[in-house]
Amino acid sequence: MKIIKSIEYLKRIIRESKRNGLIINFIPTMGALHLGHMKLIQKAKKKNSIRIVSIFINPSQFGPNEDYKNYPRTTHNDLNLLRNENVDIVFLPIENEILKYKTYYKCPNFKIEKILCGKSRPNYFPGVKSIVIKLFDIVQADNSFFGEKDYQQLVVIKKMRDELNFATNIIPIKTVRNKNGLPLSSRNKYLEINEIEIANKINKICKYLIPKVKNKLNTTKILAHAKRELRMNGIDKIDYLTILTDTLEKRKSLKSKSRIFIAANVGSTRLIDNFRI
Ligand code: PAF
Repeated sequence: MKIIKSIEYLKRIIRESKRNGLIINFIPTMGALHLGHMKLIQKAKKKNSIRIVSIFINPSQFGPNEDYKNYPRTTHNDLNLLRNENVDIVFLPIENEILKYKTYYKCPNFKIEKILCGKSRPNYFPGVKSIVIKLFDIVQADNSFFGEKDYQQLVVIKKMRDELNFATNIIPIKTVRNKNGLPLSSRNKYLEINEIEIANKINKICKYLIPKVKNKLNTTKILAHAKRELRMNGIDKIDYLTILTDTLEKRKSLKSKSRIFIAANVGSTRLIDNFRI
């Protein structure tokens, strides 16, 4: 496994790999790797391809009062996991190099960034786009892998790929959950044991909602009831609980593929999830 820090060196290796007919599969991460990441990485294993995993905790996607400073940094452990998985290249960009130019790329802003998480975390999607656009430019991957757990991020990145004509395919990978349905996330590390039990309820309550909202367009009452239930179970700070289509639009027909989207705090930890209806 090659560990590469220099952008120029990485580009050279990628050019050589492409000349040798290899497909480039790319998995961008912020480290603190867990089984959810490993699933993405395993799915990216294909014949005649190399897998490149990037690890970079991107400061610009954190708000001023968010957890940038405390975000788990576990590079040693991450590298061991990636070595065991036989990943070809780990890209560890140096902050001063990858963020040398402080100006944001003139990346379009999309309406879908202003809703759901974008409402309460206005820095998040501009920050994510500003790093992903650079990574896409550097890696020139044939396929890039993103988890469906961060579903809004996945849709925003797909839109950016389309609008800026990046050639990479965006491959969505299903959310990996613990046995109680809690989606794996690097931020689960912040949860106390009693909070994990509370967080598990999100899955239970939302799963229970699915059959109820399946054949109904007006779900206001059902969602209000579910919010009450969440609160009764200790999930008191609900940022949103809503239903949108897979492209993050209002659901106008029962035929359109849709999801339940939720963001809520358990203690001081913000959790997000989504469920296919
Ligand atoms: O999902 C993440 O881990 C990050 O938002 C990403 C896509 C690596 C950009 O920093």
